Amino acid sequence: MAKPDRYAVIGHPIAHSKSPIIHQLFAQQTGEAISYEAIDVPADELAEMISEFMAEDGCGLNVTVPHKQNALVLMDTLTDRAKLAGAVNTITRGDDDKLQGDNTDGIGLIADLRENLNVELIDSSILILGAGGATRGIVPPLMEQKPAELIIANRTVDKAQALSNAFVDLGNIDACGFDNLNNRQFHLIINATSAGLEGELPPFPSSMLSPDTVCYDLSYSMRDTPFISWAKQHGCKQAYQGWGMLVEQAAESFAIWRGLRPETAEVRARLP
Ligand code: ATR
Repeated sequence: MAKPDRYAVIGHPIAHSKSPIIHQLFAQQTGEAISYEAIDVPADELAEMISEFMAEDGCGLNVTVPHKQNALVLMDTLTDRAKLAGAVNTITRGDDDKLQGDNTDGIGLIADLRENLNVELIDSSILILGAGGATRGIVPPLMEQKPAELIIANRTVDKAQALSNAFVDLGNIDACGFDNLNNRQFHLIINATSAGLEGELPPFPSSMLSPDTVCYDLSYSMRDTPFISWAKQHGCKQAYQGWGMLVEQAAESFAIWRGLRPETAEVRARLP
């Protein structure tokens, strides 16, 4: 029997990654013969590991925290969306064995919001909390949905302003600090800070939540994240963690590698 095509996710740490189980479920569903493992790669071994894996028998890689930005400069070619995001989460082997970097995070978020959660993005008002790498990746695909406005709020206001300036051509984007959010309301609030990872929450004003606000945390955890707990406590009816985005970005990577996009519903149902 032929050996299955080999794929992996690389990150540091990586032990708790759900990507291997997600891709194994996609493989079972589609009948594709692939193997998919999680490999812990420290920053100083990233370049060597990627080139060795792809030069041996590797067919593709997913890249996760903290390597997405660093992987960008190691690619031979980049898709437009990877360039815009300034980060790579999917590596494929292109013509002449060249390494192509792509990014499926943004399209994964849009698929989860629109298809799974039925969130209306056209003409909506969107707030993103945080102005780091995760925010950079999601602004362009969100702006493609033609919201009425998109505000980036950050602890360090200069970083929010720099991102807003970088994407000014995409539409109505503005930047501010958390204090300026008092008594403003939004259809969709996305937490893209890494604050919850340390267990504490930045001081977001609860006045920006209404029963009609949808809150979405790019982070995910087996229990409610601090942002999701905060949103529920302050009367937000719909508050979602980023599990759906995780599955949808994986389905997009699988589609790039294998030429067919798996159904995600049964996989999403297996996660919290
Ligand atoms: P990522 O790639 O996940 O976006 P990052 O680039 O390190 O990670 O960005 C982290 C984001 O979380 C930043 O917006 C950061 O705010 P600053 O730009 O002010 O540093 C935000 N963040 C992290 N910890 C925070 C905290 N305790 N309170 C508020 N914001 C926080």
